[in-house]
Amino acid sequence: MYPLVVIRLFWLLPLALTLDAHSPLDCVPRKTVPYHRENGHMFREEGVWNYSTMLLREDLGLLLLGARENIYALDINNISNKKSSVSWKVTERQQKECSYKGKDQIECQNYIRVLHTMEDGRMYVCGTNAFNPECDYMSYKDGELTLENKAEDGKGKCPFDPFQRYSSIMIDKTLYSATSMNFLGSEPVVMRSSPSSIRTEFKSSWLHEPNFISMAQMPESRNSLTGDDDKVYLFFSETAVEYDFYSKLVVSRVARVCKVCVFVCPPRWH
Ligand SMILES: *[C@@H]1O[C@H](CO)[C@@H](O)[C@H](O)[C@H]1NC(C)=O
Ligand SMILES: *[C@@H]1O[C@H](CO)[C@@H](O)[C@H](O)[C@H]1NC(C)=O
Repeated sequence: MYPLVVIRLFWLLPLALTLDAHSPLDCVPRKTVPYHRENGHMFREEGVWNYSTMLLREDLGLLLLGARENIYALDINNISNKKSSVSWKVTERQQKECSYKGKDQIECQNYIRVLHTMEDGRMYVCGTNAFNPECDYMSYKDGELTLENKAEDGKGKCPFDPFQRYSSIMIDKTLYSATSMNFLGSEPVVMRSSPSSIRTEFKSSWLHEPNFISMAQMPESRNSLTGDDDKVYLFFSETAVEYDFYSKLVVSRVARVCKVCVFVCPPRWH
C-alpha cells in the first residue's frame, strides 16, 4: 500500500500546480525587468550619503529618493538619470543647538525620512533636521523639484534620531505615523495627523521600547454589510510586558489602528 500512496501524491502535486496556474488569482506582473549585470543602473552623488527613503511616482515617471540633506527625482526607466534635486540642509544655528545637546556633527544633519504622495499630487516630506524634525511640501513641475519651505512641526511624524526605526503611511489627506516624539527617543507614539491630530498615550502597556517596522492599509471589504473594516495595520516589535522574565523578551506585534474612530475609542486615544 505504502508505495502506491507515495505515487499518488506525486501525481496529484503537478495537477495541483497546473490548476493553480489557471486560477483567476494568476497575476501578471506590471513590469518585468530581465536580470543581467549590464541592465543594472546606479545612482550616487559625490559627498551624499544615506539614501534611505524612496517614493515611486509612476504618474510622473519618477523615483524620488531621500538622502541626507538632499532629495532627488530620478528617471524611473534609468535611475542614473537625475532629473532634478533639491537640498534641505540644517542651519548653522540648528546644528550648534544639536551639538550642544551632545549629538555629533554627522547626526546633527537632516536625514530625509518621510516621503509621501498627497491627494493634490504634491509630496509630503519630513526630515530629522538636526534632532528637530520638520516637514514640508514638495512639488515637481516643468522638470524641477521645489520645496515650499513651510517648516511644519514634524514631531510624532518623523524620528528625531536618524538611527531610530519609524514607519508612516499617507491615506487620502491623513498621515499615520509611528515614531518617538522626543529628543531622547523614549516617548513612542502612533499618531494620526489631519486637521485634528490624535495620538496614543505614553504607557508601557501600550508601546514598550518598540521598533516600528511598517504600516499598511486594508481597504474596506467589498459587499460588506457592516462596513468599517478598513483599517491601518502597524507592524512592530517590542519588549513584552505581559510576561515576567529575567531577560528581555522581544515579541513581534501587529496593531490595528481605526481610521474613523475619533469619538468611538477615547480611552485609547488623546
Ligand atoms: C549613513 O551612512 C554612513 C556611511 O554609509 C553610515 O556609516 C551611517 O551609519 C549612516 N547613518 C544612518 C543614520 O543610517
Ligand atoms: C542612463 O542614464 C545615464 C545618465 O544620464 C546615461 O549615461 C546612460 O547611457 C543611460 N543608460 C541607458 C541604458 O539609457
